Amino acid sequence: MAASRNETVRHLVATAPITRDVVTRFVAGETTESAVQAVRTLNLPVTLDYLGEDTEDKAQAEKTVQAYLELLDALHAAKLARNAEVSVKLSAVGQALDESLALTNASRICAAAEQCGTTVTLDMEDHTTTDSTLRVLDELRRTWPWVGAVLQSYLHRTLEDCERLAKAGSRVRLVKGAYAEPPDVAIQDPHEVDLNYVRCANVLLAGEGYPMFATHDPRLIDIIGERARWYDKTEFEHQMLYGVRPDEQRRLGARVYVPYGEQWYGYLMRRLAERPANVTFFLRSLVSR
Ligand code: FDA
Repeated sequence: MAASRNETVRHLVATAPITRDVVTRFVAGETTESAVQAVRTLNLPVTLDYLGEDTEDKAQAEKTVQAYLELLDALHAAKLARNAEVSVKLSAVGQALDESLALTNASRICAAAEQCGTTVTLDMEDHTTTDSTLRVLDELRRTWPWVGAVLQSYLHRTLEDCERLAKAGSRVRLVKGAYAEPPDVAIQDPHEVDLNYVRCANVLLAGEGYPMFATHDPRLIDIIGERARWYDKTEFEHQMLYGVRPDEQRRLGARVYVPYGEQWYGYLMRRLAERPANVTFFLRSLVSR
């Protein structure tokens, strides 16, 4: 996890003779065309993420907005927009500079998504941004009630956030959480994180919103299926990351989170940190050239 924010390691990996396979297993490519092509090939519902985060530069934030506008245009032109929404990290559109800039930029993406007949979901980043992201969500939902947000079951606060958001019209993507967080804000024991995931899932399934269960965990997927039957809830979906458990994605008809763009490094490092098998795959590719 530390490597995802370490400049020296970033330089090492970026300049290493890394095989194309490692990156393309988890990232659809660097361009809009490669993202659109991945949507076509997957033939499943998707949510697309233009990679980039922690922008402290207005011009970079603008570049991210333009990339989303170009992507939405391309999806619309390819008649793929109905099943392809976008996921946005507010830090990539200026949150660290100024919350109102992030709100303005996210609004531009939402307006374009509306024109294409699709939706936007706000990713959730480290805990220092949670309040700000939920404030921006509330503002966006005044105009676009379909804007969704991610909630992370490792945060102590999340059950309460689920209760507030489990309302008609709201879309919540429930994940375990991918950042290294301190014990005063986040549950540290993975089993407890899973238990909290189930508590949160119960609240979302009992509510009137549209829950999106984003996990690859087979036990949680089974439990969600059982609980959905118990609550007689049919309006929900499963979601998984591009390149992870593709057979299961097809079996469940899951929505696939498809990242693309030149800034794949931080994203790739978080995927490697999650699973030792991924690191082995990565290291093998470095020595097998
Ligand atoms: P976990 O990693 O605990 O794995 C549980 C089990 O799942 C494993 O034991 C294994 O059985 C199976 N599994 C997991 N990975 C596998 C693999 N590669 N191959 C085979 N089996 C595997 N996080 C965040 O903080 N903010 C966000 O906005 C998002 N957004 C997001 C969107 C979507 C669509 C997804 C799927 C995930 C996110 N995440 C995220 C990431 C999330 O927080 C979490 O880090 C990952 O999903 C990994 O957690 P799992 O729930 O998959 O379980």
